[in-house]
Amino acid sequence: MKKKNPIIIGIESSCDETAVSIVESNNILSNIIIHQNIHKKYGGVVPELAARLHDEKLLEAFNKSIFVAKIKQNQIDAVSCTIGPGLINSLLVGCSFSKSLAMGLNIPIITVDHIQAHILVHFIKNANFNNRFPTFPFLGLVISGGHTQIIKVNGYFYMKVIGSTLDNALGETIDKIARKIGFNYPGGSSIEIYSKYGNNKKFFFPKPLIKGLNFSFSGLKTYILKFIENQTKKDPFFIKNNIHDLCASIQKSISDILIDKMNQAVIETDINRIVLSGGVSSNKEIINNFSVHAKKNNWDLFIPKKCFATDNGAMIAITGFFKYKRNMFSSIKISPYSKCKQIYSPTIS
Ligand code: KG4
Ligand code: ZN
Repeated sequence: MKKKNPIIIGIESSCDETAVSIVESNNILSNIIIHQNIHKKYGGVVPELAARLHDEKLLEAFNKSIFVAKIKQNQIDAVSCTIGPGLINSLLVGCSFSKSLAMGLNIPIITVDHIQAHILVHFIKNANFNNRFPTFPFLGLVISGGHTQIIKVNGYFYMKVIGSTLDNALGETIDKIARKIGFNYPGGSSIEIYSKYGNNKKFFFPKPLIKGLNFSFSGLKTYILKFIENQTKKDPFFIKNNIHDLCASIQKSISDILIDKMNQAVIETDINRIVLSGGVSSNKEIINNFSVHAKKNNWDLFIPKKCFATDNGAMIAITGFFKYKRNMFSSIKISPYSKCKQIYSPTIS
């Protein structure tokens, strides 16, 4: 029989975080994240290594999650896992683990889209700085390592992508630029730290001229990489001598691009409730600029707390909870997918 306050476990393995979380309704009982630091050495995620490490670490993350939640395995009412988009072999590891768990405990399995989960994380109690839930409709801006999308959200499972990147994702762009500067992968937070005392107007990087609500970051990435190369030819200590201003200027140009697009999205949709998600949305400069702009333009802005912005299992568990309430269970035969969806609706699985 279905419970009013079910205990749901969420398993996330789409990229380089092995994450297992347990929720009871929309309360978090545990949120275990094991980062795969090995990729630092290679300057980016190595898919084969990521899958192997998920396989090695999932049981540990699962046991920790059960321990922290102070529950017994037989109290779990359903298993939810990321089904895509992401690295296919990493997804396969998480899905196979989840299927075995569901079969072993004789409970249903719920499959969850990673992007949808990044947005629905805002429905966990106290997951954002507003400490309240956004009301529908709203505009979701998902900015992460692998994805950049503007999504019109009409309901928990009624979402439509109205803008997305035509080439590189924002986080991927930031990580490549950060690597050129000399930071370890993933370099987003290093750029944030070094930009702290920098002059964000010192260097100017032209904005991509992309019509409509789509993004393009490959031109900006190439421009900045070439700019750094050319300056370093003239002055071998260019990076060292300008690191703060360089990081601050990069951050400013990125946050200007995002705000411009969201401005346009607000005008086009007549929706002024904005919900940020994904790892890049933990960047303080982006948060500050969005906050200032939101105040001036009367936007109702929602920013996730850092542990809910980057990949986590709680976002999978909460999405699983909403699916549980709607009987949106999956077949044990379901297979993962690697690419982003354009429409999220209960009729399209
Ligand atoms: O959402 P996420 O954890 O994983 C994906 O779904 O891809 O996002 C990871 C991305 C990385 O590119 C990382 O550099 C970026 O988020 N990131 C940041 C910051 N923290 C993480 N980018 C800018 N500033 C940050 N503070
Ligand atoms: Zn993500």
